[in-house]
Amino acid sequence: SGPLVVTIDGPAGAGKSTVAKKLAERLGIRYLDTGAMYRAVALAGHRQGVNWHDNEQVRRLLQSLELHVEQDRIFLNGEDVSDLIRSPEITRETARAADVPLVREFLIAQQRAIAARESLVTEGRDQGTLVFPDARVKFFLVASPEERARRRWRDFKEKGIDIAYEKVLEELLQRDEQDSRRPFGALKKAPDAIEIQTDGLSVDQVVDVLLKHVRSHV
Ligand code: C5P
Repeated sequence: SGPLVVTIDGPAGAGKSTVAKKLAERLGIRYLDTGAMYRAVALAGHRQGVNWHDNEQVRRLLQSLELHVEQDRIFLNGEDVSDLIRSPEITRETARAADVPLVREFLIAQQRAIAARESLVTEGRDQGTLVFPDARVKFFLVASPEERARRRWRDFKEKGIDIAYEKVLEELLQRDEQDSRRPFGALKKAPDAIEIQTDGLSVDQVVDVLLKHVRSHV
């Protein structure tokens, strides 16, 4: 009955990426990081100094831009930008770019085209609500802000980025607020999504829980 689509939505730092990647691996299907797609568009706009409120500028940007998404890497007009898109500066730009309906339409079309070709575990904010309302299995991952900020802070530290925990927490809360308020594509739990609280659970424990749900649905 067509490719299998499993969606994982939730706030920043809930562990979506790590969990989605492992779940896809265990299922032997592709993993799609839709946040990376928003980040790559934001980077392109940032480089060109695009005003996100100017639809003409945004349209031109999108026309000039070719995204190629692999499991773990993302290419912008052939350039591997996978690491560049993770900086705090581009993260802030991404929240602005993700507000723009033209940007969302552009990326949603690409996400659906990928899912039409192959089975996916896809991860983001709007995958179970807006992009794949008919997905076979939907998850909504949550964790307390403190736990999410701790995880983010550890990620930064591992990458050698020196930033105060309080700052990470503050930016995370700001992003929650912005991601939830967006008029189109807001962070929201789909009514039929399974909510998983991940505080205190290891990645493997979460993956095991999700895997059981997926297997009971296929
Ligand atoms: O998941 P990640 O932190 O990489 O996402 C970066 C930003 O991209 C989010 O804070 C959100 O503003 C935006 N985003 C979105 N819709 C998605 C995925 C990400 O609006 N499906």
